[in-house]
Amino acid sequence: MSASAKGSVTITLDGSNKSTRLPLLSGTVGPDVFDIRKMYADLGVFTYDPGYGATASCDSSITYIDGDAGILLYRGYPIEQLAEQSRFLEVCYLLLNGDLPTASEYRNFELGVMRHNMLHEQIRTFYNGFRRDAHPMAVMCGVVGALSAFYHDNLDVRDTESRRIAAFRLIAKVPTIAAWAHKYSAGQPFVYPRNDLTYAENFLYMFHAVPTEEYKINPVLSKAMDLILILHADHEQNASTSTVRLAGSTGANPFACIAAGIASLWGPAHGGANEAVLKMLAEIGHTRNIKAFLDDVKDKDNQTKLMGFGHRVYKNYDPRAKIIQKACHDVLAELGIKDDPLLDLAMELEKIALSDPYFVDRKLYPNVDFYSGIILKAMGFPTSMFTALFAVARTVGWVSQWTEMMEDPQQRIGRPRQLYTGAPRRDYVPVSQRG
Ligand code: SDX
Repeated sequence: MSASAKGSVTITLDGSNKSTRLPLLSGTVGPDVFDIRKMYADLGVFTYDPGYGATASCDSSITYIDGDAGILLYRGYPIEQLAEQSRFLEVCYLLLNGDLPTASEYRNFELGVMRHNMLHEQIRTFYNGFRRDAHPMAVMCGVVGALSAFYHDNLDVRDTESRRIAAFRLIAKVPTIAAWAHKYSAGQPFVYPRNDLTYAENFLYMFHAVPTEEYKINPVLSKAMDLILILHADHEQNASTSTVRLAGSTGANPFACIAAGIASLWGPAHGGANEAVLKMLAEIGHTRNIKAFLDDVKDKDNQTKLMGFGHRVYKNYDPRAKIIQKACHDVLAELGIKDDPLLDLAMELEKIALSDPYFVDRKLYPNVDFYSGIILKAMGFPTSMFTALFAVARTVGWVSQWTEMMEDPQQRIGRPRQLYTGAPRRDYVPVSQRG
């Protein structure tokens, strides 16, 4: 399916005889767009949209979000159905290829990923260059970027097969890289992946196993891990995905592009919010402090944000947050944690915020990061690993979007313009004549 012309929009510049007729394009579902590519030539003006809140940077058939209705579709399939019935590696196949796999297609895909889950032994030495207390996202940026040093010479980004292998390598290796980042910081030996385990089981195994005893996979935890990976897999043109697309639009090495996406995801306004939510809950400490905290948030003189709340697109409940909240209860019950003070505090905070006009009027609801930290902490992951887990899951989304861009016949290097507000032309003044 592709965009279709649906009419046009005419723009006329006040006080001039200049006007332009811009094509109105429709997709499968969601808002129409008008194509402004010839506007500058006709009117001599640019559009202005800092943060790209109202700008479509591309057409894509991978993920669709209806922010008002709280809907998220991966290749048309509702996230609720995929969360309930699919598994992460099948969702990887779906995002990369556009349809759900047959049984044999799935098995071949699974084997393809397995065949690339080990790291070149030289990669191990990169870890020694980091301090033991290096943030896992710093390690992920460094090591994933370093993969471009191993896979560059025989990688032609214009070649379909090269892109396919790069996709397999990235999806397969990021769990190993993330798990080893934790092992390195813990001073424990690296654990190699096992091909008799599923993707989620393997990650838990590489993360938690030690050579001194057998590691038993807990099916409830591996199911929760798989679910968390599904929920974080892709999300339209978010900041990190747009970073990967912009870097990839120059023809850059895909491993370096994904490293750029990891860097962007790290920010607390984006994927770093899950870690920030836990820190926020720890600062609040008790339900009796919620009111004072929210007063801080509402005081514009403060820079305090209610982390895990709000979203550029969702002006309703993030469907992923609902699913994770339910999974929280399942995991805590499995772990025999009757009442987790963090979860109780988060739920009370949500309840109070959602009845407060400040948040209601601004359509601020819990997003994917509000509950994910609680379940990850309960599963034994250190807070510093939360965003690294997000990066493991989002790698398939980044790779799928990069591939879609590389195969788009309209693809050209991304190069936004600006509204210049600096000094007009002026001549150089020698220092002897300056004030
Ligand atoms: C992710 O883009 C994606 O798809 C991202 C993501 C993905 O899967 O890739 O969904 C993952 O990044 C989720 C978001 C995680 N970030 C956080 O939880 C951090 C806290 N949230 C905010 O920083 C904020 O909500 C953003 C960054 C997420 C969105 O920023 P916007 O688009 O600038 O927010 P907005 O325009 O909706 O804000 C409207 C108003 C503003 O106040 P006023 O100027 O109208 O008075 O709401 C305020 C904002 O200041 N506001 C908040 C707030 N979020 C917005 N006030 C307090 N706490 C918040 N969290």
